[in-house]
Amino acid sequence: MTYEITVLRRKTPEDLPYEQTFRYEARTGADTVASALININRGSLTDVNGNKAEPIAWECSCLQKKCGACAMVINCIPRLACDSVLSAVAADDRIRLEPLRKFPAVRDLICDRSVMRENLKTITAWIDEEVSLKDDKDNILFEAGKCLQCGCCLEVCPNFYAEGRFFGMNAMVPVAGLLEKLPADKSRRLRKKYSKHIYADCAKSLACHDICPAGLDIEKLLVNSNAIALWKHLFK
Ligand code: SF4
Ligand code: SF4
Ligand code: FES
Repeated sequence: MTYEITVLRRKTPEDLPYEQTFRYEARTGADTVASALININRGSLTDVNGNKAEPIAWECSCLQKKCGACAMVINCIPRLACDSVLSAVAADDRIRLEPLRKFPAVRDLICDRSVMRENLKTITAWIDEEVSLKDDKDNILFEAGKCLQCGCCLEVCPNFYAEGRFFGMNAMVPVAGLLEKLPADKSRRLRKKYSKHIYADCAKSLACHDICPAGLDIEKLLVNSNAIALWKHLFK
């Protein structure tokens, strides 16, 4: 099967974006967007009009749905390139690739997601001690640990923007694990930050739940965190 893959490109953050389309012949039925990008970038690149092209800039690391680096917008939906089989995501034989749009563009399919890390630092979303986790969907800390920090949930969130007060689901998920683990007297500061940066501006529509490529049960984590951070203390 041959696909036409259109990439939204720019060389520098200041450049206006432009589209460039490449023809790609899938090698197997299991070819993903990531394998297509790797193969397209091999050798000298020519677009569908026969023009020479620069290699397409994009990010990846694990290629196994474990790191979140390859998140991008694929035919209008935020997904992991390494988890997007061409035949499943194509509209007829066409696939359009864009960088995540909630973050500053860097080059081609790369954007700057550092605001996610800065927000986690602001909310102190980490554990200082070593913990061993059981592989158990009912264990909130284990479930939260599956977050890839990919940013797909922020892409679909109507209330998140990069410099805003609301930090979104990628921040809620690790905090959900912490709130579950910490005793009430040690989590006071975290509960306040949760209330300000997550609870106050989350519309709870759960678009983020449906899009998460790690399959996290965001609804369950959110309900649990809201209960620990707010409701239990309001009605004491
Ligand atoms: S919650 Fe899901 S979509 Fe959001 S950053 Fe984590 S893995 Fe990605
Ligand atoms: S529930 Fe809605 S508002 Fe809250 S983080 Fe998810 S998408 Fe955003
Ligand atoms: S390259 Fe790591 S999730 Fe896709």
